[in-house]
Amino acid sequence: MKILCVVGARPNYMKIAPILEKMDKYNLAHPPPKIFEYLLIHTGQHYDENMYNTFFNDLQIPPPDIYLGVGSGSHAEQTAKIMIKFEQVCISEKPDLVIVVGDVNSTLSCSVVAAKLLIPTAHVEAGLRSFDRTMPEEINRIITDSLSKYLFTTCRDANENLKKEGHPENRIYFVGNIMIDSLLRFKKLATLKIKSFEELKKKEYGLLTLHRPSNVDNKNTFKDISEALIEVSKKIPIIFPAHPRTQKKIEEFGFSNFFQKNLEFNHSQKKGVYIIPPLSYLEFLYLMDNAKLVLSDSGGIQEETTVLGIPCLTLRENTERPITIKEGTNILVGTNKNKIIKESFNILDGKGKTGKIPELWDGKASQRILNILLKEAG
Ligand code: UD1
Repeated sequence: MKILCVVGARPNYMKIAPILEKMDKYNLAHPPPKIFEYLLIHTGQHYDENMYNTFFNDLQIPPPDIYLGVGSGSHAEQTAKIMIKFEQVCISEKPDLVIVVGDVNSTLSCSVVAAKLLIPTAHVEAGLRSFDRTMPEEINRIITDSLSKYLFTTCRDANENLKKEGHPENRIYFVGNIMIDSLLRFKKLATLKIKSFEELKKKEYGLLTLHRPSNVDNKNTFKDISEALIEVSKKIPIIFPAHPRTQKKIEEFGFSNFFQKNLEFNHSQKKGVYIIPPLSYLEFLYLMDNAKLVLSDSGGIQEETTVLGIPCLTLRENTERPITIKEGTNILVGTNKNKIIKESFNILDGKGKTGKIPELWDGKASQRILNILLKEAG
C-alpha cells in the first residue's frame, strides 16, 4: 500500500509520528515486500526552526521525503499553493491512500487534491466541531471530513457529529486520540533545557499559549486578555512561549511592556508574564506536566492537560473538544477579563477542576488505525 502522509503545521507532527512509527515497526516485523510504503510530505506551512525541525527531532520523525515549501500567506494563497504542489506529487507518486491529520490549511488542501484525483483519503481526528464557522479550522474540518473515505475519530461525540452530517456509518471509526499516543510515549523524556528556568519549581508557575487570530489580531481583545494575565501573574509567574504571529502582534500593538522580555526568570520577584520563543515538544510537555495551571487558546492543549490532570482555562468562547469540559480538566473562560482572573484564582486556591481520562485515550489509537488499514488492504 503506497501512502502519502501529510504534515504542514506544528499541531500535525504529534499526530503523524505514531502512525509512522507503527508502519515502520510493522514493515520491520514482516518480510519484504513492504506492506506500508509511505512518503512523508511537509507542505512548509510552518517553516521556522522552532515550528518544525525541533518537533521532528523530539518526536523522532524522519526528515520529510518531499518538502513543498509553500510558506505563509492569506488563506486562499496558502491553500492554493499547497494544492498546486501536492497535485504534482500525487500525479507522479500515484499513491493508494493519502493520510491527513488535524484541521490546518494543509489538511484541507491535500484532501481536496486527493479527492479530485480519486485517491482515497484517511482523516485522523475527524468529526470535531466547534459549530463556529468564523474559525478557519472549522471550515477545514467540515470539508476534509466530507471528502474522506476513512474518518478516524477521537471520541464518540465526533461520531455523532459525523452521523448528523450524513456521513455513512461504515466510514466512521472510533479509534481514540492519537495525540495521546505521542504524549504517553514521550512523557518520560520530557525535559526543560532553558538554563535560566532551572530553578522553576513544580506547580509554582502558570503556562500560557495564545495564537488564535480572534484573540491576538484584535487589539482590544488582546489587551483585555493581557491585563487579566498581568493580574494573575501577581500571584504566580506565568511562562509564555509565544507563537511567531503573537510576537509580531505584540510589536505592532506596542504591548511589549506587558511582558518580561528576557529569558531570566526573576527568582526574587517571581511575578510577571515571561515571554519566550516557542518551545520544542519535549520542553513544552515538561512545562505543561508540572504547571499549576495552563491558560491557552489552543485545541490540542485542552486534550493534553486533560490526560495530564492539569487544570486548563481555555481562552475561547467555544471548543470543538467538549469532552475535555465534560470529562476532563478544561473550563471555557472566553476572553472576559474578570472570568479569566476569577477562574485562575480558584485554581490557585486549590479548587482546580479534576477529571478523568476519556475512553480510548490510551496510547493505542495509531495501532487501531493500522489494524483498520491492514484489514481494508486485505
Ligand atoms: C496554524 C493553524 C492553526 C494551528 C496553528 C498552530 C490554519 C488555518 N491554522 O495557525 O489551526 O492552531 O497553526 O501553530 O492552518 N509564521 C512564522 N513562522 C512559521 C509559521 C508561521 O513566522 O514557521 C507566522 C507568519 O507570520 C504567518 C503566521 O505566523 O503568517 C500565521 O501562520 P499560519 O500557518 O498561517 O497560521 P497559524 O496562526 O500558525
